[in-house]
Amino acid sequence: MLRTHNCGMLRKEDIGKEVLLTGWVNRRRDHGGVIFIDLRDRWGLTQLVINSNQQEVYQSANKVKSEFVLQVKGLVRARPEGLANSKIPTGEIEIAVSELTILSESKPLPFEIEEKNETDESLRLRYRYLDLRRTRMQKNLILRHQICQVVRRYLSERQFIEVETPFLTKSTPEGARDFLVPSRLNEGNFYALPQSPQLFKQILMIAGYDRYFQIAKCFRDEDLRADRQPEFSQVDIEMSFVEREDILELIEGMMKKLFHEVLGINLEIPFPKMSYDEAMNRYGCDKPDLRISCVIDDLSLLLEDKIEVGAKTDSWKGLFFQEWKSFSRKKADLLSQMAKNAGVSLSYLKQGKQEVISPLKNKISEVAWRKLLEKYPFQEDSLLLLAWGESQKVLPFLGNLRINLGEEQNLIQNQFKFCWVLDFPLFEWNVEEHRWDSMHHPFTAPCLDQLNQLNVDPSQVKAQAYDIVLNGFEIGGGSIRIHRSDLQEKIFQLLNLSEVEIQQKFGYFIEALQYGCPPHGGIALGLDRIVMLMSGESSIRETMAFPKTQKGTCLMSGAPSPVSDDQLMVLGIQLRKKQESQIVKEG
Ligand code: AMO
Repeated sequence: MLRTHNCGMLRKEDIGKEVLLTGWVNRRRDHGGVIFIDLRDRWGLTQLVINSNQQEVYQSANKVKSEFVLQVKGLVRARPEGLANSKIPTGEIEIAVSELTILSESKPLPFEIEEKNETDESLRLRYRYLDLRRTRMQKNLILRHQICQVVRRYLSERQFIEVETPFLTKSTPEGARDFLVPSRLNEGNFYALPQSPQLFKQILMIAGYDRYFQIAKCFRDEDLRADRQPEFSQVDIEMSFVEREDILELIEGMMKKLFHEVLGINLEIPFPKMSYDEAMNRYGCDKPDLRISCVIDDLSLLLEDKIEVGAKTDSWKGLFFQEWKSFSRKKADLLSQMAKNAGVSLSYLKQGKQEVISPLKNKISEVAWRKLLEKYPFQEDSLLLLAWGESQKVLPFLGNLRINLGEEQNLIQNQFKFCWVLDFPLFEWNVEEHRWDSMHHPFTAPCLDQLNQLNVDPSQVKAQAYDIVLNGFEIGGGSIRIHRSDLQEKIFQLLNLSEVEIQQKFGYFIEALQYGCPPHGGIALGLDRIVMLMSGESSIRETMAFPKTQKGTCLMSGAPSPVSDDQLMVLGIQLRKKQESQIVKEG
């Protein structure tokens, strides 16, 4: 090794030792005749001291700039009385340098490594190797590593085996577009990068492996957001001969272990469970953030026919804030404008100086007014937002408002709040294409007591699917699968796939189901989202070493980039311009 110690390990007990250290120059200070250098590596910082009476070393140290890579030899000694730095573990010692070699120089930096102000993200991504030198990124990547270690250990102890599945494959539909890879050896044919290892893990169950997991890369060509990347990682799991509860318990145990071992936090399990309908009705979305205690109340029964607001409406909802300091007229106008934009009507009741007041007071019947006051414990600063209109518009609007106002009013508790969302509908109606889409994926089993409904009203059929939600983020989803080929074919038909399409796309899978398929189920957890939440970051880009931008580009390498005509020729590909209609369709 070029060093005897790293930059984070020397202590008082090492005083008197001669050591060799290597690392990056974090900071150099020249105190006229004495140069101080903070040498940094992954493990920490160590202070080097170079005295001008050692001419040769001093001259080398004079040339040193930020982020040069050095090797130094020196003696560990105590820092002078009163100059110890209690903020760092090596703060009691320093190295009196006797030899200094510059192993590598650095150009002037595009930004300071020691982050004082937030650096522009595109600059950070362009120079990711510099950004990754920062403590914040190091912490996040180390946390990610620890999480993977705990997960691997937990599953291995329970007899799961990690199996790698291919990247060059056929489409595995998860609701996004595929990334395609042209095949040189099979001209005109394309591989699709997997949106998930879904079919492979199910086939591993057919093959009798019983308990599979993989920390798997997945690829989805979809619109990106803070919690979405085009390539991301899943903790992907599948088990044979199980029921829903077995999977839920497995994951609860895993989360408990993970949070305990990595963050020292004791989670309470089992996690709360709620149906999809309850999540939509109470929280206005299918990934409820339970850190905010207020929920949406259905006031339709209470208010229907007892309030005059013009157009008849079927849905009255309330969102009650026990305490809302200085709710102003201006805020009320702003919120009702936002509501209007969302096709919803909004008003409020608030605690005035003496009594509860509302612009609606004269329009609500006396009985209904009294019932409202009985239902809600108004006290100083309390506020009830009242929204009405079409249920499909009112609920998501209030759901968003709940989160935004929760943040604004500081109502979000600093906690980890998990829940399961169960009983999803099997299908959702695709308005544009006039057909059913799977709400999860087409391999999800319907509730078995509702199979007859598939022929009557598919919208009523529930799926044996579950999502796990943490602090308002969907961190995982899974289901009990269809293990009968006839039912699988029927679902494909309901999704409007022709016999030919079914055969072309999934023929191999339907065939596999005919060779002894065990009942099975599984789940996939979004690793990047878990790291994001456990590290307290607000974007998954902070949890990946080399993420893409919102536009799916890598600012460091310049990917994606054009390829040469020769490369295209070998693949038998000729580029042509996208048609106008296609561009419009993609938005
Ligand atoms: P699903 O599509 O719900 O299920 O994905 C599982 C979890 O993966 C994470 N995730 C993402 N993370 C970052 N960027 C993305 N673009 C992205 N898309 C999804 C989410 C999500 O909950 N095969 C099924 C699982 C199963 O049925 O077993 C699947 O992939 O946290």
